[in-house]
Amino acid sequence: MSNVIDINGVQIRLSQPVATPVDWIAQPEPFRQLSAAWKILGASDWPMVPRLIGPPGLGKTTLALAVAKSLNRPVFLMQCTSDTRPEDLVVNPVLGQDSKIHYHASPLFSAVLTGGIAILDEGNRMPEKSWASLAGLLDHRRTIESVIAGITVAAHPEFRCCVTMNEDSSTYEVPEYILSRLQPAVELPFPGHEEELAILRYTVPQAPDEILLFCVAYLQQAHQLELPFSIRDGASIVRYALRLMDSQPELPIPEAFQQSLAQVLGTGAFDLEALALRRKKQFGDVPRMDSNDFFFDDEDEDLRAE
Ligand SMILES: Nc1ncnc2c1ncn2[C@@H]1O[C@H](COP(=O)(O)OP(=O)(O)OP(=O)(O)O)[C@@H](O)[C@H]1O
Ligand SMILES: [Mg+2]
Repeated sequence: MSNVIDINGVQIRLSQPVATPVDWIAQPEPFRQLSAAWKILGASDWPMVPRLIGPPGLGKTTLALAVAKSLNRPVFLMQCTSDTRPEDLVVNPVLGQDSKIHYHASPLFSAVLTGGIAILDEGNRMPEKSWASLAGLLDHRRTIESVIAGITVAAHPEFRCCVTMNEDSSTYEVPEYILSRLQPAVELPFPGHEEELAILRYTVPQAPDEILLFCVAYLQQAHQLELPFSIRDGASIVRYALRLMDSQPELPIPEAFQQSLAQVLGTGAFDLEALALRRKKQFGDVPRMDSNDFFFDDEDEDLRAE
């Protein structure tokens, strides 16, 4: 695939697709749901644009990459931030060594042009103004305009997109008219015991089962209490515990695990029930998974790591 495309005489340089060396382990349901949403059922149909929701570190980006990989299309990851401007999502002008303006397609626009898969990662960090410029791309029109390059483009029929959303305090409210285009919602549940063990085994393959079992037991208790500790937290605890044991070979696994837990999540995370109780007192009833209240905000830092 050439990395320069000509659109009505305007040369656009494409972004590089990302390599997708990820696999999705266990948890078949969210994988099936995202795959289903991206299906094209007949000539006059077009793929849906799902939003992947759930607490941080549960696997939203990984799921999107893994399903994209299964479709064998180029994958473009667009990291969204509060500084993402409408033009950043489409075409960026760059001054070349020849003193001429060159147009560089964003990862999203590169997917639009080549029939790739765009992952708008952490989409709800992006301000409303930037979302507004995508409305026509995310609905049946499937078109997008670059004001800077002076072109309007209809998306390639194979173009697919999804948005991951991280519900924490540093995000914007996504406007209703955009949410109505980001359908369906695919929610990542906390994994069950066997699933979590399989995912951790895959994520930290060098870890002996004994320490993985400690970690899974801990995470399962946290999930039951609806505390937002994730696979990513678990993997960090295990990876650091392994390093402690490597540097101190006589350190028993339970002690390495405890020390790592204290340094990764804070000593406040030793007593999960007390932590859950304090959260309940602070937020009233046990918060729902889809509520913003579920997540720690900056002022709750002491609850997460004391
Ligand atoms: N079912 C799974 N299969 C494979 N890996 C998984 C699975 N679930 C979680 N993981 C692992 O969990 C870790 C966190 O995943 P990821 O970064 O995708 O989470 P996220 O939900 O996108 O987090 P954030 O909201 O912070 O961006 C990664 O190491 C990922 O490989
Ligand atoms: Mg992510």
